[in-house]
Amino acid sequence: MLAAVYRSAGDSSALRVEQVETPRPGPGEVRVRVAVSGVNPTDWKVLERSGPQRGEFAVPNQDGAGVIDAVGPGVARERLGERVWLLMAAHNNRWGTAAEYCVVPSERAVTLPDRAPFELGASLGVPALTAWHCLCIGGCPSGDAVLVSGGAGAVGRAAIELARHMGAERVISTVSGPEKARIALAAGADAAINYRDADAAAQILDVAPTGVNRFVEVALHQNIALNLQVAAPHAVIAAYAADPQTLATLPVRDLMVANISLRFMLLYTVKPRHLQEAIEGISAALRAGALSTPPLHRFALAQVAQAHDAVRNGAVGKVIIDL
Ligand SMILES: NC(=O)c1ccc[n+]([C@@H]2O[C@H](COP(=O)([O-])OP(=O)(O)OC[C@H]3O[C@@H](n4cnc5c(N)ncnc54)[C@H](OP(=O)(O)O)[C@@H]3O)[C@@H](O)[C@H]2O)c1
Repeated sequence: MLAAVYRSAGDSSALRVEQVETPRPGPGEVRVRVAVSGVNPTDWKVLERSGPQRGEFAVPNQDGAGVIDAVGPGVARERLGERVWLLMAAHNNRWGTAAEYCVVPSERAVTLPDRAPFELGASLGVPALTAWHCLCIGGCPSGDAVLVSGGAGAVGRAAIELARHMGAERVISTVSGPEKARIALAAGADAAINYRDADAAAQILDVAPTGVNRFVEVALHQNIALNLQVAAPHAVIAAYAADPQTLATLPVRDLMVANISLRFMLLYTVKPRHLQEAIEGISAALRAGALSTPPLHRFALAQVAQAHDAVRNGAVGKVIIDL
């Protein structure tokens, strides 16, 4: 099969497209004929930070969508031909989604309803699972006011759609300009407010007069002051992004007075039962038609390095690779 592979850590120039042996599913695994591979920041970060063992190769990319074409021992044969979206395909596994076929544990291939296109399926994994977890740690946001920072981002946009689906009373997004505001509003935000505006807090409180109950936060170290200005008592701030060197200064007393909870999450270390709840929540949202395909940037497999670079350079919209 044709696959993107890397043999050592590095930037996108470490990626090669080669013919490799088509993998076979082992016990508890399925093989998926990949239709679309989704690219996330984690994919270039994993490539940059860790390579496979000497002499081996790995296929990058966690997310994707396709059709199960082979099952290993212990997996029901009824799964053959099933349309699926993939999660964490390349996590502790050499067969990521940037290839014609990938092999994953059966539970990492989740039913994709017929009406959901593969492009949407390949946009779910990392972004939707992260968004779901941030929204639902300690209880889902039905009736809440939710503030999604960076609502045009992959995680942010999924958080807006999921918050709407979960019955949030108000969904507000912050953005850096009009193009990103359009994306956040199209995803269902009640308002998209420029976080650089001097009166951003007042604009948020205009939309959510009793304050924000839940924050899906992409830049805690930069936004904590704004968050505190608009937080309702007992609000939950769920932070999901930071560079390794990021430090935040926290106004501890103000956080105490308002009884605010700060939560942090990394998808790869979420408890299995919470991951399963997220998968079920996203599947329910898919069945309800509550999730839509983001604006796309399409690449061919031969352009895998450009696809990684596009994500690294902050492409607005979802970067996908057609297989
Ligand atoms: N913890 C986890 O498990 C997990 C899971 C998924 C992603 N992540 C991380 O989360 C980050 C975002 O991922 P993504 O796929 O959503 O990336 P993305 O599609 O590039 O979106 C990031 C968005 O954040 C916005 N942003 C940046 N600084 C901001 C600020 N101070 N206030 C408000 N918005 C801001 C960006 O727009 P502007 O710069 O124009 O504002 C952009 O729209 C990455 O670092 C990724 O590695 C972590």
